[in-house]
Amino acid sequence: MKKFVLKPKIYFNEGSMEFLKEIKGSCAFIVSDSVMETLGYLQKTIDYLNETGIESAVFKEVRPDPDVKVIAEGMKKYLETQADTIVALGGGSTIDAAKGIIYSLWQFRKAAGEEFKKPLFIAIPSTSGTGSEVTNFSVITAEGEKVCIVDEWMAPDIAILDSTCIQHVPQSVVADTGIDALVHAIEAYVSTEATHCTDALAEKAVQLIFENLKALYNDASNSCARERIQNASCIAGMAFTNAGLGINHSLAHALGGTFHISHGRSNALLLSAVVEYNANLNSNDSRYASEKYARLAAVLQLPARTYREGTINFMQAVKDLLKSLGIPNRVRELGIDKSKFENKVETMVELALHDRCTPTNPRLPSREDLVGIYQKVF
Ligand SMILES: NC(=O)c1ccc[n+]([C@@H]2O[C@H](COP(=O)([O-])OP(=O)(O)OC[C@H]3O[C@@H](n4cnc5c(N)ncnc54)[C@H](O)[C@@H]3O)[C@@H](O)[C@H]2O)c1
Ligand SMILES: [Zn+2]
Repeated sequence: MKKFVLKPKIYFNEGSMEFLKEIKGSCAFIVSDSVMETLGYLQKTIDYLNETGIESAVFKEVRPDPDVKVIAEGMKKYLETQADTIVALGGGSTIDAAKGIIYSLWQFRKAAGEEFKKPLFIAIPSTSGTGSEVTNFSVITAEGEKVCIVDEWMAPDIAILDSTCIQHVPQSVVADTGIDALVHAIEAYVSTEATHCTDALAEKAVQLIFENLKALYNDASNSCARERIQNASCIAGMAFTNAGLGINHSLAHALGGTFHISHGRSNALLLSAVVEYNANLNSNDSRYASEKYARLAAVLQLPARTYREGTINFMQAVKDLLKSLGIPNRVRELGIDKSKFENKVETMVELALHDRCTPTNPRLPSREDLVGIYQKVF
């Protein structure tokens, strides 16, 4: 049985943060980071909430790829408040941290036989990539490993996509996060759990990203491209929270966690090799993935008269996009030593095989398959 769930109410476009003035409550716990404070978005959030009579308690200690220590600090701070609302203001790391804080509190209370009332959960993304504002996923680092927690309980109630919040994203972060959103859409599209609902969302996200990401990368002041990429990221999030992901993410979690490469860049480095592996064009095995890649080629108005032609054109389009965003071809270009990488391959493969994202990949990989992909991308 398959199901499709749409959780948050979504407010769009420039200035939509003003919606905060309509929230009812008494105290908001704001989870954020120092970058949001410096850029003035944190104060703006506090001011809007203040206008409606809500006082704020701020936890701004989130760092990229949040770990269990940050979650524990956040839980402690949350418990010092009487918060009935939680606002996550920041990138995927911040939204995931907010999810981690309330989810862990809920789990601890449940284990003690106590109740935990979920606060109204509002997510305001400041990057366009993870789609965390609409997903059931939270990625937390524990003992150096990225762990994916998946639970519908964690999904935000309200997502605010205010494009002014993403106007100062550094160019390389625009590229990495944009490719993360693209990988979400592609993996959801070829997932074994894909449905017509998720396919519709994934196709639209892929189209918006191919049409607008390069423009946004080259000109951060392009507000039209900015809004479209923000929407694409959110739409891709809706697709993958329902269809799941695949080994691009499993391999990226292990690679990024081991070598401290950002989530989006890890995904970008693996993307071409994973599409090629899933398409499996030289075999007579299932054509499911290659037929779907060919359909994406058709969405991009590339020739796709056969599944082979479409897949090849789609793979080339992906390569061209990555190149136009200045993304390196190989892991070694990041200055990672070959022997250090090779020493870690076995452990990374083990992690990837057991990652939450692997079972929905269109081709079930063996250990050797994953070793081959890592070697190829090095
Ligand atoms: N929950 C999900 O569904 C999901 C999906 C994919 C990835 N993730 C996780 O999300 C994390 C990555 O999130 P991300 O890619 O959004 O990056 P991020 O949140 O880690 O932010 C990257 C950097 O950009 C800065 N930044 C954020 N917004 C900015 C802005 N508006 N202007 C200037 N700088 C800004 C941050 O301070 C940080 O230094 C990883 O831990 C990844 O595993 C979660
Ligand atoms: Zn991702």
